[in-house]
Amino acid sequence: MVKICCIGAGYVGGPTMAVIALKCPSVEVAVVDISVARITAWNSDVLPIYEPGLDEVVKQRRGKNLFFSTDVEKHVSEADIIFVSVNTPTKTRGLGAGKAADLTYWESAARMIADVSKSDKIVVEKSTVPVKTAEAIERILTHNSKGIKYQILSNPEFLAEGTAIEDLFNPDRVLIGGRETTEGQEAIKALKAVYAHWVPEERIICTNLWSAELSKLAANAFLAQRISSVNAMSALCEATGADVSQVSHAVGKDTRIGPKFLNASVGFGGSCFQKDILNLVYICECNGLTEVANYWKQVIKVNDYQKNRFVNRIVSSMFNTVSGKKIAVLGFAFKKDTGDTRETPAIDVCNGLLGDNARLNIYDPEVTEDQIKRDLSMKKFDWDHPFHLQPMSPTSTKQVNVVWDAYEAAKDAHGLCIITEWDEFKKLDYKKIFDSMQKPAFVFDGRNIVNAEKLREIGFIVYSIGKPLDPWLKDMPAVA
Ligand SMILES: NC(=O)c1ccc[n+]([C@@H]2O[C@H](COP(=O)([O-])OP(=O)(O)OC[C@H]3O[C@@H](n4cnc5c(N)ncnc54)[C@H](O)[C@@H]3O)[C@@H](O)[C@H]2O)c1
Repeated sequence: MVKICCIGAGYVGGPTMAVIALKCPSVEVAVVDISVARITAWNSDVLPIYEPGLDEVVKQRRGKNLFFSTDVEKHVSEADIIFVSVNTPTKTRGLGAGKAADLTYWESAARMIADVSKSDKIVVEKSTVPVKTAEAIERILTHNSKGIKYQILSNPEFLAEGTAIEDLFNPDRVLIGGRETTEGQEAIKALKAVYAHWVPEERIICTNLWSAELSKLAANAFLAQRISSVNAMSALCEATGADVSQVSHAVGKDTRIGPKFLNASVGFGGSCFQKDILNLVYICECNGLTEVANYWKQVIKVNDYQKNRFVNRIVSSMFNTVSGKKIAVLGFAFKKDTGDTRETPAIDVCNGLLGDNARLNIYDPEVTEDQIKRDLSMKKFDWDHPFHLQPMSPTSTKQVNVVWDAYEAAKDAHGLCIITEWDEFKKLDYKKIFDSMQKPAFVFDGRNIVNAEKLREIGFIVYSIGKPLDPWLKDMPAVA
């Protein structure tokens, strides 16, 4: 029986391994982590992450060929294939601070593998890592090898949170990079055989190591660039009277462009886009490619600009100050169908409003009060460390109130802003909300999910990103 061990039971390690266990009943899969709380949750009825369809997959295989454990060393030493899916945060100090990937967790995982292994292993990079990380890992492993042979593969994960299980069941592609030696090709074959249980052969792409590592960074950079492109257009739409949804529709009909990922919004978030682009920028700079680095940097600048623009719209429409005003914030996760708040635009929007002394009533169906307060008090990049190493007691601010219902959030509020596109926000009784709010009542739709015309009929003043402006907003300054 092939034994797989995955180091890191997070958003990637957990769902990926659960699906491998489901699709390959003949393979034994152990997911290990240094976080006791995470492993306890994976073994309970309340899994540590929310992902549609995940519960059923875990319930079907847990205890059969899927195990969650803190006994990292035991499972690593027994495994034939070891996936490493640990955090790769952005460095906050030293060389490359603010851009380069911090490989501390990766390195410690590699050293531990070298320490406990007693047989040959295939080590798979599942985390997103800088190009040439495999070389560094190879060095750590071979310098401590005690005669054991290691093959390093790069198998970056392309799942999107919110649709992780669907993506894993039916991936656009699986990418496996390895050394172009006989041993390297043998290792690729072994990993390919795992995926071949359910992924059609033509969707399994095999490349050299560096292409696989770079493809993951490139794919995320392209996706984020698309969002920044449409968001840049949204600012121009507001200035000219064009409607960004109509522009996106017309542009997306071109088959060379395609319709996906063309929704204007308050900005992208999530654990990967910004981090991976910063990482790409750093690699470009290290290779003397300043122009290329600047090109990709701009994707992040436009994203920051979009979040600022949103806050400025709110403040300027409410008579240039939100001091002491109550703002309902609907949604805190970085997108719908996930409880993940890493790099969510909600953090910057809320902090922007708090900076102008607003009072916030925040509601998200999947994010806890503790998480929201933690996020609002956390330093940039601190979020991407194992949970137990993050600051323990969030500084709670009097101005933030976390509530468990959208109507409760809106009560007595001067304005309501929509940050996450949860389906339930489309179906709210906006008349009831209007009646409970202070007047004039504002809605700032950061995801273009409400019917602005209907809301205007009720009496709201509505701002929708990239749409023709409400007469109220026309004379207000929009840009920082
Ligand atoms: N979240 C996504 O959508 C996504 C998608 C593709 C790739 N990635 C990449 O995958 C990697 C993991 O991301 P994630 O979202 O699953 O992160 P995560 O923070 O949810 O999980 C990482 C886990 O690794 C554990 N860990 C850290 N060091 C360890 C060690 N030495 N031994 C055992 N466990 C250790 C942590 O406790 C944590 O539970 C990152 O490199 C990320 O960039 C993420």
